[in-house]
Amino acid sequence: MKSPGSCRIVVLVIPVIVLAIGVISCSPGKTDDPAGKTHSASFAGHPENGLALTPPMGWNSWNAFEADIDEQKIRQIADAMVDSGMRDAGYTYLVLDDGWMAANRDGEGNLVADPNKFPSGMKAIGDYIHSKGLKFGIYEDRGHSTCQQLPGSFKHEQADMSIFASWGVDYIKLDSCFAESNGRLSTEDYAIYRNCITNTGRPIVLSISDFGNGAWAWGGKETAQLWRTSNDIYPWMDSVYACAETSAGDRSIHPAFNGLWQFAGPGHWNDPDMLQVGNLKSDIEDRAHFSLWCILAAPLMAGNDLRSMSDGVRRILTAPEVIKVNQDARGIQGYKVYDGGEKEIYNKPLQDGTTAVLLLNKGRKPADITVTWDKIGLSGRQKVTDLWAAKDLGQFTDSFTVRGLGRHGHLLIKVGSAGPPLAAPKPVLPHEYMVTGSGMTYLSDLYYIWRRGNVPKSDKNYNDDPIVIDGVRYGKGLGCKGNSRVMYKLNGKALRFKTAVGLDDSYAGGGTGRFRIYNEDFFGNRILFDSGKMEQGAAPKLVDLDVTGVICLLLSFEGKDVPGNWADARAVALNNE
Ligand code: GAL
Repeated sequence: MKSPGSCRIVVLVIPVIVLAIGVISCSPGKTDDPAGKTHSASFAGHPENGLALTPPMGWNSWNAFEADIDEQKIRQIADAMVDSGMRDAGYTYLVLDDGWMAANRDGEGNLVADPNKFPSGMKAIGDYIHSKGLKFGIYEDRGHSTCQQLPGSFKHEQADMSIFASWGVDYIKLDSCFAESNGRLSTEDYAIYRNCITNTGRPIVLSISDFGNGAWAWGGKETAQLWRTSNDIYPWMDSVYACAETSAGDRSIHPAFNGLWQFAGPGHWNDPDMLQVGNLKSDIEDRAHFSLWCILAAPLMAGNDLRSMSDGVRRILTAPEVIKVNQDARGIQGYKVYDGGEKEIYNKPLQDGTTAVLLLNKGRKPADITVTWDKIGLSGRQKVTDLWAAKDLGQFTDSFTVRGLGRHGHLLIKVGSAGPPLAAPKPVLPHEYMVTGSGMTYLSDLYYIWRRGNVPKSDKNYNDDPIVIDGVRYGKGLGCKGNSRVMYKLNGKALRFKTAVGLDDSYAGGGTGRFRIYNEDFFGNRILFDSGKMEQGAAPKLVDLDVTGVICLLLSFEGKDVPGNWADARAVALNNE
């Protein structure tokens, strides 16, 4: 089936690539769907393609060195991956992040390694990495430049993917700096790269790096094996917890989803960013971070200087029983079964019929945490194993309590015994978060699928009172205050989107509010509506948009402390309103 958007993609994308690279096109060989969005990209994030069946593991240069990388360092890291036991523990990919390339392409337009940092060239470094039994990963950017202002791949898509394949690249982290000026939606952009990769014939993992702009929502799985859920991670626990919350909490999606777990599985993973294990303040912090990433089935890309890591850090990164939780073949991303603010409990049902449970104290005060078996699908007497200590803690009836966990202290346990797999959690159903039927769907009756900033109120203004604009009261709609950005999934089903926008009548201040509607995320820069700055008391602006083929609609309201309403916001799937 062709998606309704595919005609537009043919028109926009193919000429760009043909112009840029002459005879080579990025449409995949095996299909007539040039965007390759639904079924054609043979190495996309579907398990049958055999890539990343468990979360990718490796090392990436960014967190340890930023752009300060060179040939000698990378070779030493490759050696250290082997000598430290990291490779044998499963860390396969050695990824060179930003900073590896020369400031300019060569005379033929090819990407080249920075001649001072990598005088032997990238093929040689790839060969060295492979000679160590490791896989070679590289960083690029889909904009005209990388985040470090080096040459990006925009308009060089096929040439760059081909040169990577010729160097033996096995993993590409594709970043998004400057991608706003490409004129392409993220879905279009990543589909192009996936098709270019497919054309090389080399199985290459594609890692979407987009600062967490909602790849799970618009369909990252169709093009990639992993996608970022967060902004960049930093080596302190607030940042570690914030990144974890983008994947496990309601920081980036409606609370009804209980995190992003339902979008992950074999071949496609939520990526709360690379590890800072070894860069944090203590083993306690390092272990808490590692356990979180393991229970969340997050990619494990180490980000410390492996050449000088302590034995303690090495033991954390290579802890076999903990890694097994992350790499479990069932591929269920762990999810919270209790969130008491500072105390949290996560559950990850495993392939062998047991389940992994993380009891974590984020608070300053020492805490006791109890997990009751009913929260994790068990009952009666159950065996409990401490996975860090690899120690059998005994049999416990109905619950287990850990006492006196200090700050960032946790226990990672395995509960139960081998047998048929425990029930998986229940996902949010399609009709609860996307337009599925004909007729009218009020957005306030759907769960939003991505957000940044304040959460809008459903069918109320921001103070929980009725929505009123210029004297007119509306029964339905979204009430925002301050900056609020939410994405809803129209799923290509809606024909029109209608709403009336304006500041709430309760507002007496002199500020202004601006309403903008985007097709998909910010990178496409496809603004379907812009109210301009609206003042208090202004009549509502009526919006009636053609949204044929739009997968995700992004509603952006900006206005410092100003209440603004998307009154009666609704998608119409048939012209029968
Ligand atoms: C950021 C990205 C980082 C790192 C950096 C390199 O956009 O999120 O992980 O790759 O660029 O410049």
